[in-house]
Amino acid sequence: MEVDLAPATEEDLLQVAEVFTEAFPESLLHTWGRIPETAMTAEAFRLCLDAEPDAFWVARRGRLVVGYAFTPFHLASLWQTAVLHGHLLRWAWRALNGRYHVGRHPLQVIFANKWSFLQSALDRRYNVPSRILSVAVRPTYQGRGIATALLRRGLDYLDRRGARQVRLEVRPGNAPAEALYTRLGFQVVGRTRDSQGPWLIMVRSRPGLQPAD
Ligand SMILES: CC(C)(COP(=O)(O)OP(=O)(O)OC[C@H]1O[C@@H](n2cnc3c(N)ncnc32)[C@H](O)[C@@H]1OP(=O)(O)O)[C@@H](O)C(=O)NCCC(=O)NCCS
Repeated sequence: MEVDLAPATEEDLLQVAEVFTEAFPESLLHTWGRIPETAMTAEAFRLCLDAEPDAFWVARRGRLVVGYAFTPFHLASLWQTAVLHGHLLRWAWRALNGRYHVGRHPLQVIFANKWSFLQSALDRRYNVPSRILSVAVRPTYQGRGIATALLRRGLDYLDRRGARQVRLEVRPGNAPAEALYTRLGFQVVGRTRDSQGPWLIMVRSRPGLQPAD
């Protein structure tokens, strides 16, 4: 099947948010108690694009975005961009003005999860700033090598930037994702958890890199 891989653009973000929503309905329901508007989810991806555009790839069939991957070189660039480019302020302003229809519960879940995420990120044993942060493919397009192709682009980018290791988290039991990551050279190195349950931590060392390098 003809699918084009390309760097993500501003115009892709609503469709990327659609793909994310189809892929992770349980996480969205757990956090928000409902499926949020696509435009709101797209705001999170706007931050990713702003922070590290070269780390953001989409797969398109014609004009349809069928999958995406975001693989930042340095996770901290997201936090910095969120603060310095005003994303955080914009979200807070919109939330305060009722634009997101956010109650206390989602905010508590988000803060609790960000806290677990930060603790796990800072854990010395797995302190790897380069990440596969998000990857998903529309259900009818899965199993055709699209995620593999997207992640190869992402990993090439991280290799070029000089990332020695790359980390990701995956829910235990997500067999397609685990199979995909294992094939790309990731190994399970530990576990962490958030309010929705456990995560496996997987790490890949750059091919050819010796442990002592
Ligand atoms: C994980 C995901 C991105 C894979 O996308 P994809 O385009 O289907 O992936 P690929 O076709 O490149 O490769 C998938 C691999 O998983 C395997 N796979 C597919 N379905 C599977 C299943 N139910 N059980 C085990 N393995 C499975 C495929 O056989 C393939 O491995 P192979 O090439 O060795 O045969 C896709 O399933 C998805 O979007 N899932 C929902 C979102 C998600 O879980 N993202 C990852 C979060 S960590």
